[in-house]
Amino acid sequence: MGKGVFVTFEGVEGSGKSTQIRLLADALKKAGYTVTVTREPGGTAPGEALRKIALDPHTGELDPMTELLIFSAARRELISRVIAPALKEGHVVLLDRFADSTTAYQGYARGLNLAMIEQLNRTVTEGVWPERTIVLDVDVEEGLTRSVTRMAMEGSTTEARFEGEGLDFHGRVRDGYLQIAKKDPQRVKIIKPGTVEDIRRAVFSSVADLFPQLTVD
Ligand code: TYD
Repeated sequence: MGKGVFVTFEGVEGSGKSTQIRLLADALKKAGYTVTVTREPGGTAPGEALRKIALDPHTGELDPMTELLIFSAARRELISRVIAPALKEGHVVLLDRFADSTTAYQGYARGLNLAMIEQLNRTVTEGVWPERTIVLDVDVEEGLTRSVTRMAMEGSTTEARFEGEGLDFHGRVRDGYLQIAKKDPQRVKIIKPGTVEDIRRAVFSSVADLFPQLTVD
């Protein structure tokens, strides 16, 4: 890997990732870092096309392995076209969802074999792996309600495939993230629910060692 810094954000639906990514990106830019912000699935033309298949409710049911391969294909494009080049240039890369989403959603929630997913994640990412992963924890029901409400307000229902899953599914996603963090506490930090400012402070503290120029308070 190059000399950049790679940080990923994870969480269940409506956990407030995009707000926190924006706050951190702005603060890092102010502190003099060059920042690339992107999201999964998407961030490239083929990735956005795959995103449509994966998230549009009109897609209907997908074989879980097909779903896994779609997210992995989108990830591969993003890594090779965006993430790896940006890291090579020395950028900070802030990514909304990465391989832990696959472990949590397709593994813990859909029930695909976890060892197989870990192997696939390693193969697809080829050593491009985050220095730090921030998991924004939130009550599953609250998050889901927030996410559905936001979509309704935006008048967009074309990305609601996962919002249509039951609370038990999203509960398994949350448990999955807690397991992932337990297995890799150095990399993965769980941030407790709170106000936007509480969460911002906790997020900044969790990455402070990576960014000596960043002011936490
Ligand atoms: P998105 O609208 O970006 O959701 P959010 O704003 O909550 O991040 O949709 C991404 C959806 O795709 C989300 O429901 C999680 C799911 N997903 C997976 O199931 N596996 C994956 O590997 C990734 C990257 C996302």
